[in-house]
Amino acid sequence: MAIQIKSVSEIEKMRVSGIALRKVHDAVKAAVRVGATTMDLERAAVAKIEELGAKSAFKGYHDYPAVLCTSVNNEVIHGIPHDKGALREGDIVSVDCGVIVDGYYSDCAVTHPVGALTPAVAKLLKVTEASLYAAIDKAVVGGRLGDISHAVQAMCEAEGYGVVREFVGHGIGRNMHEDPQLPNFGPAGKGPRLKAGMVLAIEPMINAGTADVRVLEDGWTAVTTDGSMSAHFEHTVAITKEGPYILTR
Ligand code: MF3
Ligand code: CO
Repeated sequence: MAIQIKSVSEIEKMRVSGIALRKVHDAVKAAVRVGATTMDLERAAVAKIEELGAKSAFKGYHDYPAVLCTSVNNEVIHGIPHDKGALREGDIVSVDCGVIVDGYYSDCAVTHPVGALTPAVAKLLKVTEASLYAAIDKAVVGGRLGDISHAVQAMCEAEGYGVVREFVGHGIGRNMHEDPQLPNFGPAGKGPRLKAGMVLAIEPMINAGTADVRVLEDGWTAVTTDGSMSAHFEHTVAITKEGPYILTR
């Protein structure tokens, strides 16, 4: 299917969705602390989504049971919130959330530190987030999709990190997942031309060790095969004539 082009008024609707999602993320961030469980984060998100009159994009998606994905330490993505065991000092927790407002989706993820991190883990978060912004800088009219992919890969592999291959970013709009698929690796200068009105969920998933991941028996939780820490940052970004427009900022 062709990559959809959104009108200015559709992008404004997606911005409204993105602002709601930002408020959900702020509420979750305020709940991250030593001793909290990932189910505490889920409850904070559920309450805020309801208060905003928004709808979860995740709950019920392929029977997914929660509004958040909460992925701790060596969990890469799609961790399911639970009440078994609390967050501990030095942990990291990736929080991924999507909402629907007035029919438009937004999708955003952030990896939070829990208390003080070791320098190596702090650096993983810093570099992964920086790679997201390097990628966003390439979301410009006239560029190519591969420029975005390559920006993530170049920055993260330069630090010796593993760039996850099995999961990718995506177009987003009236559905959570639209064309194109957006890998976090690949050559610059290749792929579809970027046009004003394309909206992309850009989401580097980066491992401190090798790129290899496997999915646990719950059918959802992806973990690093070497047990190394993994970080995930995501924004929903519109490509406009004026440059990249981060809808979930
Ligand atoms: N945020 C994920 C993505 O970008 C989707 C989460 S899967 C779900 O593809 F089941 F939790 F919804
Ligand atoms: Co996404």
